[in-house]
Amino acid sequence: MKILIIGSGGREHCLVWKVAQSPLVDKIYCAPGNGGTKSLAENLDIAATNIKGLLKFALDEKIDLTIVGPEAPLVEGMVNIFQAQGLKIFGPQKELALLEGSKVFAKEAMKRFDVPTADFKVFTDYNQAREYIELKNSPLVVKADGLAAGKGVFVCKETPQALEAIKTIMLDKKFGSAGERVVIEELIDGQEVSVLVFTDGDTIIPLLSSQDHKRAFDNDQGPNTGGMGAYAPAPLLDEAGLKDIIDKTFRPLVRGFKAEGKPYKGMLYGGIMIKDNKPYILEYNVRFGDPETQAILPKLKSDLVELMLKTLSGELSGVSLDWEPGFCICVVLASGGYPGSYEKNKVIEGLESLASKKDIFVFHAGTTNNDGLLTSGGRVLNVVALADSLKKAQTEVYQAIESIHFDKMFYRRDIASKAL
Ligand code: AMP
Ligand code: GLY
Repeated sequence: MKILIIGSGGREHCLVWKVAQSPLVDKIYCAPGNGGTKSLAENLDIAATNIKGLLKFALDEKIDLTIVGPEAPLVEGMVNIFQAQGLKIFGPQKELALLEGSKVFAKEAMKRFDVPTADFKVFTDYNQAREYIELKNSPLVVKADGLAAGKGVFVCKETPQALEAIKTIMLDKKFGSAGERVVIEELIDGQEVSVLVFTDGDTIIPLLSSQDHKRAFDNDQGPNTGGMGAYAPAPLLDEAGLKDIIDKTFRPLVRGFKAEGKPYKGMLYGGIMIKDNKPYILEYNVRFGDPETQAILPKLKSDLVELMLKTLSGELSGVSLDWEPGFCICVVLASGGYPGSYEKNKVIEGLESLASKKDIFVFHAGTTNNDGLLTSGGRVLNVVALADSLKKAQTEVYQAIESIHFDKMFYRRDIASKAL
């Protein structure tokens, strides 16, 4: 099979790496890819959002399966466009990608299908939103409706913060049309966990639970980022806890969409808050998580391509997944200044010594490899260790990082410490 993978982050390098292990696969392309995908796939000079260009390539090259990493092309309707040309593509159609593309759509679906989530109200008028916040005078979370690169959510313990948030979104229009509608919801104080599942619209096959670390600095300090590290599985969830999450927060949604004649096929990712042993959905994403994927797929023994094909053909019933024993930890190495501005084109050194280590994986994110390996983004590398205990994985991942260097490199030193 010829596979096309869309995207350029650590998640996509990890997908390329995993797909390359499938005996079904002859050739992998990655658009646009990064300095790491280049060693296993042919990188294409086509942006992830250039759907027309990607379609032409997929038709010309007779691609057998396209796998979409980031949310933007899904929300733009890439799956519909490929399917209309008879191409196989992994991900939900545009109508359901709205689960991630619109917080209002997602919250309304949760309500319609009785999925536990924070109570919420939707506003299009600034003054009404302001009056509501003043009246509530309690901790709230303010969310721009549309895609805002993970920056459109404001967790506000105090009323002035919530007022500032609606000003930013509705008056200053920081997120443009993504902020035309605003969701204001109750703040739920609990433990956050990510759960990723494959679903063919009917059957749900969960991957391992995982936990992301969104803040830039140790002890959850500093600004929110795309994610500074993750580990899997999350010890906080036992088998019964995961089953409870599937039964309460995934099954009603998957059943509900099927009943409405729009079965959801693809990867569905739940951002879940657990409070008093009860799960609440904070958000659904319609794709693999980043960096969760990098902590999950090294543990997966099953063939990812086969799983994706079964998802698309509606044959997940009876499938069970094989896992390597133990725990995986992924630590993100970032450019100094990230998530704000940072310098690029720093020489990356020290990866050779890790190449022979069986249980250490390095997935590239913001790298290029044309004239040597250089940094090209905020999140640069994902270093992953697999070990039989979480503690050992942590020791090994930080040992591996010792040998890597680029100017102004920084990373969190406490990934998984909370779980330990
Ligand atoms: P979202 O993009 O909706 O997942 O929100 C981003 C982050 O904001 C989440 O990962 C949580 O850490 C936090 N968050 C979102 N909604 C809530 C809520 N209702 N209560 C507490 N924290 C929240
Ligand atoms: N890890 C957060 C995300 O993928 O959205």
